Amino acid sequence: MIENTKIQRAINTHQETGVHPIGSAGSQHKTIRTGRRTFLGWFFGIGTVSIGAMLSVPLFRFALDPLMRTTTATSWSDLGPESDFSETSIPQKRSISITQVDGWRKVVTEKPVYVIKKADGKLIVLTSVCPHLGCAVKWNDTGTQFKCPCHNGVFTTEGKLMSGPPPRDMDELESRSVDGHLQVRYQSFRQLVKIKEELA
Ligand code: FES
Repeated sequence: MIENTKIQRAINTHQETGVHPIGSAGSQHKTIRTGRRTFLGWFFGIGTVSIGAMLSVPLFRFALDPLMRTTTATSWSDLGPESDFSETSIPQKRSISITQVDGWRKVVTEKPVYVIKKADGKLIVLTSVCPHLGCAVKWNDTGTQFKCPCHNGVFTTEGKLMSGPPPRDMDELESRSVDGHLQVRYQSFRQLVKIKEELA
């Protein structure tokens, strides 16, 4: 009886408003379902993007790490027993291998250096790179001087500037004695300046 009254009321509403009671409820239901689906879509989309971003941070750091490192520092190289250099006052040329990391590149180069026994007996090591424009300074075996072939820079046996355009003496490298062996740390210096300045 109650059920019949409800049905009759629905029919009356339909006749008065033109809206089908069952269709209206169905469309409301459909709207709620669509809204729920949209919310879940956004929720999972944002979640996936966030997790992807978090996982990619270590990968980016790993990929960019070589670019962020300071790469020009070099370690100590062994030049042999000090006794090898104590008998002569003529500069002795040696070659050392330097490994430098530049971004993702690893470069190994041979660098010539000169070991010199000074008048007081102390051993020093000079780089062969001219402080003018970087040409290789050479020991003149027939004379008593270092000469740079590019613009005729001339230096004494101990690397002091005698003449030519270089702005300063030949550059001395850091050296030390370890268990009777002479060691050197290779460095590069700014050219064309009066004061010796190490490059980073
Ligand atoms: S580069 Fe050595 S004198 Fe110019």
